Amino acid sequence: MRPLIVKLGGSVITDKRRKFAVKQAALKRLAGELAAAKGPLVVVHGGGSFGHPVASRYNIAGGYESERQLMGLSLTHRAMEKLNAYVVDSLQKAGLPAIAIQLSACAVVSDGRIRSMELAPVRKLLELGLVPVLYGDAVPDLGRGMSIISGDQLVVHLARELGATRVILGVDVDGIYTLDPRKHREARLVPAITPKNWPGVAKSLGAPGGPDVTGGIANKVRELLTLAELGIEAEIVNAARPGILKREVSGERGLGTRITTG
Ligand code: IPE
Repeated sequence: MRPLIVKLGGSVITDKRRKFAVKQAALKRLAGELAAAKGPLVVVHGGGSFGHPVASRYNIAGGYESERQLMGLSLTHRAMEKLNAYVVDSLQKAGLPAIAIQLSACAVVSDGRIRSMELAPVRKLLELGLVPVLYGDAVPDLGRGMSIISGDQLVVHLARELGATRVILGVDVDGIYTLDPRKHREARLVPAITPKNWPGVAKSLGAPGGPDVTGGIANKVRELLTLAELGIEAEIVNAARPGILKREVSGERGLGTRITTG
């Protein structure tokens, strides 16, 4: 049951400039596009304007420092549950039997990294034909008390453990650029990132917009490069452009930036 794993980035399904603002139309469209996937499918989503502002206000990513963060962890998780409910509802409406999985209940996390995860239920769900939906979240951390696991780290862990066929990260730009395309007209899309060209590309990446407690686009690529080394191909595509995700989940490749070993 080797699944395709698709992440819907927070900036695609939420308006990052407004707290708790879902992009309803985009989410509906994306759920329809995901329904074109043929085999087993796992969906992961990010935090966008639900998870990030709350997590950042309470500095959850920095670990436990004071009692006020307990409510912060609770509120961050609740915000993510609310966003997740929109995602699951949309997938169901598109005909996908989606089911949410709570990360803090099945992942063992230490120093901000997933050390292990109980995936037998997820494997069974996939075998049955359901679509597990997971999301970046605030979790208990055996080392620092509490931390944030990004959807990207989660995707990589799941891909490795479930032996994913492929990973697709849907973001709101066409892929990775040589420079920040919003600021530089000479910015060029990088069709493929390899361990060899990555250091050069990493240097030129622009700073992410809005509060991002999990490290932005550079972190995404770093996570995905570890997958490439295991032979699992990954691609970052523009899910904000109608039809791209549908084509990718239907088997097309090269519509964004591929992460490969070269
Ligand atoms: C963050 O997940 C989750 C929380 C802030 C709780 P991601 O880091 O994967 O979210 P996006 O896709 O960048 O919004």
